[in-house]
Amino acid sequence: MGDMNFKPILSSTQPQVEVMTSAADPTTGYRSFKLGGFEFRRDEYFARISWPARGQRVSHVMPVDAFLRAMMRDVAWGFFYGWVNFDHVVGTRNLYGKVELYGGRYYGPMKSAGLDHTETFESPAIMATFKAILSDWVNAGFDPFAAPEETGKTVYGPKNGDNLAAIDRIRVPTKRMPGLPGDSPLRSDANGFPINRQFTDVPQDEPEVKAEPGFEKELHAFNLFKYLSRSDVTWNPSVTAVCNASLACPTTEEYILPIVHGNDRVEWFVQMSDEITWEVQDKETGALRARITMKAGDVAAMPADIRHQGFSPKRSMLFVWENATPDLPKLYESGKLKPYPVEF
Ligand code: PHB
Ligand code: FE
Repeated sequence: MGDMNFKPILSSTQPQVEVMTSAADPTTGYRSFKLGGFEFRRDEYFARISWPARGQRVSHVMPVDAFLRAMMRDVAWGFFYGWVNFDHVVGTRNLYGKVELYGGRYYGPMKSAGLDHTETFESPAIMATFKAILSDWVNAGFDPFAAPEETGKTVYGPKNGDNLAAIDRIRVPTKRMPGLPGDSPLRSDANGFPINRQFTDVPQDEPEVKAEPGFEKELHAFNLFKYLSRSDVTWNPSVTAVCNASLACPTTEEYILPIVHGNDRVEWFVQMSDEITWEVQDKETGALRARITMKAGDVAAMPADIRHQGFSPKRSMLFVWENATPDLPKLYESGKLKPYPVEF
């Protein structure tokens, strides 16, 4: 792998940023990519990530579908809050402006053997490389946001076209609430959001809004269950109501959260339908701390010192409540705020 020939090309998504890429492999058709000391390579089934440590190259292997689903979230969420672990070995940490990419840093056996590696990049540089990888490695017919039952098996095998429309989906940019004048639209058959196959029993009526004259543009309500029943993606919390630093981010979930998220703040979950099992681990070591099954109506606060991954056996609705107050990560890291909101 060390003999791979990488050349810089101009990013097609980030102005003035270069991406280091190889020629397409003559057998599989996929390109390889390099970012600092990290190299990314894929074959028909696997993504391989390697980095330098102790004078050699350490390499890690992941199923390519899991890798692409994870990288898709990292890109779409602008590296999210805190840590986005692609699995137990590889992931990113958002430093808000810069991003750390690591291999083995939070995996005890590699860390204690000195086989881990961390590098910090300007956010646009790592974003450009991740987007270039997705553009090249996502084949026609595979949607990394879709539930496995709803997308093609074309994720495997040699390179076969692309799916730029799926990977360029932007997160719904809601300013206050969907459906307000000038804000993001509500979802309907007419604008391309049919009811999902697993939510055909969700009532589709909208609330009646009766405003006093003069307040017609100030008062607004919509059926959130209807809105979510028409979500075409999984594990993609989107900002659906904004009040100062309080962000309501409901989402629909099916199968496995493609990342293991390390929180840098407390976040609240309200299970709106069906159920999700959460595996909760220590953020630093990965040691198991809890496994909880949340059923419709259950509420949980996820602490600031954990990583977690959700398992949703059928499509379910989850309300994620995020606190975007600036400097929260610093307050938790310095101990000024406890990692949990309630002392039992
Ligand atoms: C989370 O890590 O808190 C998280 C991420 C994506 C989701 C739900 C929860 O869809
Ligand atoms: Fe989280």
